Amino acid sequence: MQTLTQRRILLGITGGIAAYKSADLVRRLKEWGADVQVVMTPAATQFVTPLTYQALSGRVVRLDLLDANAEAGMGHIELARWAELVLIAPASANFIARLAHGLANDLLSALCLASDRPLAIAPAMNQQMWLNPATQANCQTLRQRGVWQWGPGSGEQACGEVGEGRMLEPLQLRELIVDFFTQACPLAGLRVLISAGPTREAIDPVRFISNRSSGQMGFAIATAAAAAGAQVCMVSGPVPLATPAGVERIDVESALQMYEAVLQRAAHTDIFIATAAVADYRAATASPQKIKKTQETFTLALERNPDILATVAALENRPFTVGFAAETERVLEYADDKRRRKNLDMIAANQVGAPDRGFESSNNALHVLWEGGEQALPLADKITLGRQLVALIAQRYRARQY
Ligand code: PMT
Repeated sequence: MQTLTQRRILLGITGGIAAYKSADLVRRLKEWGADVQVVMTPAATQFVTPLTYQALSGRVVRLDLLDANAEAGMGHIELARWAELVLIAPASANFIARLAHGLANDLLSALCLASDRPLAIAPAMNQQMWLNPATQANCQTLRQRGVWQWGPGSGEQACGEVGEGRMLEPLQLRELIVDFFTQACPLAGLRVLISAGPTREAIDPVRFISNRSSGQMGFAIATAAAAAGAQVCMVSGPVPLATPAGVERIDVESALQMYEAVLQRAAHTDIFIATAAVADYRAATASPQKIKKTQETFTLALERNPDILATVAALENRPFTVGFAAETERVLEYADDKRRRKNLDMIAANQVGAPDRGFESSNNALHVLWEGGEQALPLADKITLGRQLVALIAQRYRARQY
């Protein structure tokens, strides 16, 4: 069984006798296909040697923040972003306190501070330390910040006392990790293709026809899909936005280039989301030289661009296909008409032409329609909307599978 295939887990080990259990945890995670990078605090190395984890994980264990050799490979910031999940197991009372207070005085605490990835702790300590109000308050602070807390369990402790504070067993932790990926990564194992931004249709070497799309909506969806565990490829028109972490980006300029790039990949994708504002028309002939203003009036002949979304939806082996509809009036009526005509699984309708949403704005509101259902996603920033839309797409995609 390979339920964690290629899942990138950064396992932080802090100073505590339960560190010996983490050696088995590494083995159990590897057994199910996970890629595990171990990072140890100096105190942890007093309990188990780094070599043990290195042999089990197949990766050099990272120890020091100021290690020039290690930083020359995957630097600590890169490492913080490499992980899909950071798990601290065992998490000592001292480390939990440092985490709660944002300290960064060793590699592991600096990584936690520099990482925007989900963080889980598996506390392990003496029962009195666990019950101490300071530890409880620190754990509450962390939970409020969205840190997952797994355990502790209770029972006999290494110090001979009995009570709460035992680190969960490796197999229990592995189950929690699998649950985590299933819940937090609803698109795990799926390939998602996204079109984003505007296209530019050349009139001559210096002029083009385009539109107001900034790419923000498409990039937010790509970010959310990657965070949901998908392998994301984004075909983008020209926009000056940074590529979201973990997303493969293909830059194109014209609608025909976007068509080629999308169609090359569409048959090998599970979900296609067409956020791009593709020019419906291009100049029938683009002049190879700059057009001179010799005439009082100028007529430009245009011809239709292929409809990328409709073409993908018509493929024999089509992906789950989600379109957008940018409308200035009768938004839902026109959007639903597009959904039917283009044979889409879902369509996200948005009002354009208002300053507080749609094109260029960092906010938007969507109304998503599918056969027999609909859901409004009210005005919010595009990052939030991207996450909500991706969650809805994952739900509908899974529903269709059964
Ligand atoms: O980029 P932002 O500034 O963040 O703005 C976001 C947005 C307003 C561009 C976005 O939310 C949006 O509405 N995108 C779709 C814009 C659009 O072209 O809508 P449309 O109603 O004209 O097209 C319908 C659908 O067909 C869209 O999914 C579009 O990508 C697709 N299409 C259209 C024409 C074409 N030749 N090929 C296509 O694939």
